[in-house]
Amino acid sequence: HSNKLNYTLTPEGHHAKLTGLEGAKAPAINKTWLEVETQYLVIQLSETLQVGKIYWLYMEFQGELANDLRGFYRSEYFEDGVKKVVATTQMEPTDARKAFPCFDEPAMKAVFHMTLIHPSGTVALSNGMEMGKNQNVLQTKFKPTLKMSTYLVAFVVSEYSSIRTAVRIWARRTAIEAGHGDYALSITGRILDFFQSYYNSKYPLPKSDQIALRDFDAGAMENWGLITYRETSLLYDPITSSNKDKEWVSTTIAHELAHMWFGNLVTMKWWNDLWLNEGFATYVSYLGVDDVQPTWNIKDLMVMTETHKAFAFDSNKFSHPLSLPEEEVKTPAQINALFNTITYSKGGAVLRMLSEFLSEPVFARGLSAYLKQFAYGNTVYTDLWGKLQEVQVNLPATISEIMNRWILQMGFPVVTIDTRTGNITQNHFLSDADSKPSRSSPYNYEWFVPISWMKNGTVMDRYWLLEKNATHDPLKTNSEWVLANVNVSGFYRVNYDPQNWQRLLSQLSTDHSVIPVLSRAQIVDDAFNLAKANMINMSLALRTLSYLSEEREYLPWQSAIKHLNTFINRFRHTEVNTKMQVCLLQIIDNTHRLLFKFQNLGLNAISLACTAGVEDCLDLTKMWYRQWMKNPDKNPIKHSMRSTVYCNGIAAGGSEEWEFAWNLYKKSVDDAEAELLIYILSCTRKPELLNRYLNYMLDPNMVQKKHVNYVIRHVANNVVGQPLAWDFIRANWSNILKEQKHASFFTILYFTTKSFSTEVELKKLELFKEEINKAGFGTEALVVDESITITKENMEWMQKNKGEVMQWLKEELA
Ligand code: BES
Ligand code: ZN
Repeated sequence: HSNKLNYTLTPEGHHAKLTGLEGAKAPAINKTWLEVETQYLVIQLSETLQVGKIYWLYMEFQGELANDLRGFYRSEYFEDGVKKVVATTQMEPTDARKAFPCFDEPAMKAVFHMTLIHPSGTVALSNGMEMGKNQNVLQTKFKPTLKMSTYLVAFVVSEYSSIRTAVRIWARRTAIEAGHGDYALSITGRILDFFQSYYNSKYPLPKSDQIALRDFDAGAMENWGLITYRETSLLYDPITSSNKDKEWVSTTIAHELAHMWFGNLVTMKWWNDLWLNEGFATYVSYLGVDDVQPTWNIKDLMVMTETHKAFAFDSNKFSHPLSLPEEEVKTPAQINALFNTITYSKGGAVLRMLSEFLSEPVFARGLSAYLKQFAYGNTVYTDLWGKLQEVQVNLPATISEIMNRWILQMGFPVVTIDTRTGNITQNHFLSDADSKPSRSSPYNYEWFVPISWMKNGTVMDRYWLLEKNATHDPLKTNSEWVLANVNVSGFYRVNYDPQNWQRLLSQLSTDHSVIPVLSRAQIVDDAFNLAKANMINMSLALRTLSYLSEEREYLPWQSAIKHLNTFINRFRHTEVNTKMQVCLLQIIDNTHRLLFKFQNLGLNAISLACTAGVEDCLDLTKMWYRQWMKNPDKNPIKHSMRSTVYCNGIAAGGSEEWEFAWNLYKKSVDDAEAELLIYILSCTRKPELLNRYLNYMLDPNMVQKKHVNYVIRHVANNVVGQPLAWDFIRANWSNILKEQKHASFFTILYFTTKSFSTEVELKKLELFKEEINKAGFGTEALVVDESITITKENMEWMQKNKGEVMQWLKEELA
């Protein structure tokens, strides 16, 4: 493989020289050429190479050190007013070939011998440990790597400082001096230890470098021995960062360290099994963080951050199976498209389910055996099933039979329990009840479902649903409540007969503590999603919220707030809005003091309180913002509350408040701060400021390229900003398509139009599509189609639900 490299040709006009080693005779080269389309350098020989012989292939080439975030690239930052350059790499999935010619496939593992020649005053890092420098030319040589895939190769040349131990944290000198690497250092070694014992496998390298980069495309990258991070994923400033930031840094470090085994030591054979890498790292990252931060309850949070996200994506008819056939994943574009919610979140959630029904110790034992057998090699998912099969106990079917149903077909079931008869049924859950899955399934969209359940608070024996319909007598009752999928240990939703729903609701309002916290959050989430799919009435879903004024736990509130926000957003342009506000005030006012307390734990409830117009909330945020303006260096606002407070401060204020934040953005050097400012700038209610902001978006001297997507997305989320963002897109779309390579047209259009729900808005979209089509942008016109579909769905939703919502509001307010 070779991409964007310029070769110095040999005297014969070839791209490479071939010689034989240890007595091997090298065939002559007939012809060499570059295949741009497939990114190959082809070397045609006069005879075939001999198996078992060693050959030496020599190439001289140059590449551009561009600021393009791919392969070997350039990143810049300012320190003490001086511009500094970092030369760094990002190879995964298919850009090692842009740094050097190589066999760029995960299964073609090799040992890499690295030497870097670099300017004086810089340090060079790579996967292996440095082993001596030649000071005359400043050349750093590295220990040979372990046997590994090309996508894990990394090298960085910088003027960075580090905190030095076997685990090293590297960053801009000023960041290290300010102590921003200290938190990472305090947990990295401990998480590494945790994984060594969890996997029962030693970390095979003498060092682990973590390096923070200003310009970085992903959040972090697990290069073996030299993990690269976006600054916000590694650096933590106790003064300016929030608890959410701390959580993100912890999860990211744990995720990448998890890859040292799952991904680096044992690698998927081909990208179609990327979920093995990423789903795994996602799942075990929560175990790693839990080990170093046991008070955070991070394992429960996983259900909200991964399982729910996966449910949302995977209930769409266009979803895809976790593991795709190899033929469907060939080109770099197809490979890149797999870094998505299914691979990460569903992958993580399905592995959590597997670990739950095997029990964590059994699961870990199987993993350890798997890692031992396949170390330094490549695998397909059946290898993992095979190893787990050897340690499993007491399952109604083989691991393959159970798990293949979860990874080879898309989607997940909704299990319906009828307590009147003890009947239990499964159906493929689709959020749009009328849609049909876009592909067929080898298992006919049926699953082997592990059903953990309880009856009136007592945990019952697990039941396995192995057919579409079954009867399980213990489920039959007319007086007790039945709750299934306790703690969301399985990847599915649950529906009940109306009587059982009623009994669950009564239990919630009399004594909700009998139902586990995660299940309380899940009842709310299932109910709203079932209602959305037309399987229960919206009024039933809304009634799951009635007990909330008594709820003191974080997770159920988080679940509820998500759905409440949908309602607020849907109705914000209609007459229902006022009533909704009053009702919200009623549910929230009792608890809002408490919610302020939650906010410290990271719950985004203060914004709901402000949205609902809780007076205290509005007054406080206004006052705090003014205080901050008066004294920008001494900030009285708690970190975790900053984004909400600033946003509301700007919303309540005028151009002075806005100008203040804009100037801070222009001066900002810190990524986290810049992202926060980009958000709060969108919160103003003044159209002239919003328009100015939108126009800045097209000017890279005003808004940095990497923030462009955020600007439009945030502005469109603002009630006043949404129509402006739409007008802006209609006026500037050709410009956006031409200039903003960084901003995807899809994202921009999606965020701007996702709340469209009227006939007029639909017409506008159709006209827009025509215009784009006429100008010859067929692909982009297809993107508009997505928005049209969403608008139609929203219109249907409104029509269907408005009446019921009004009815519920009337009852709650009575
Ligand atoms: N292997 C990925 C990085 C990556 C992502 C490479 C996309 C190429 C394309 C890394 O392990 C990863 O998953 N990073 C996440 C952060 C993580 C905490 C979920 C990311 O970059 O978002
Ligand atoms: Zn990953």
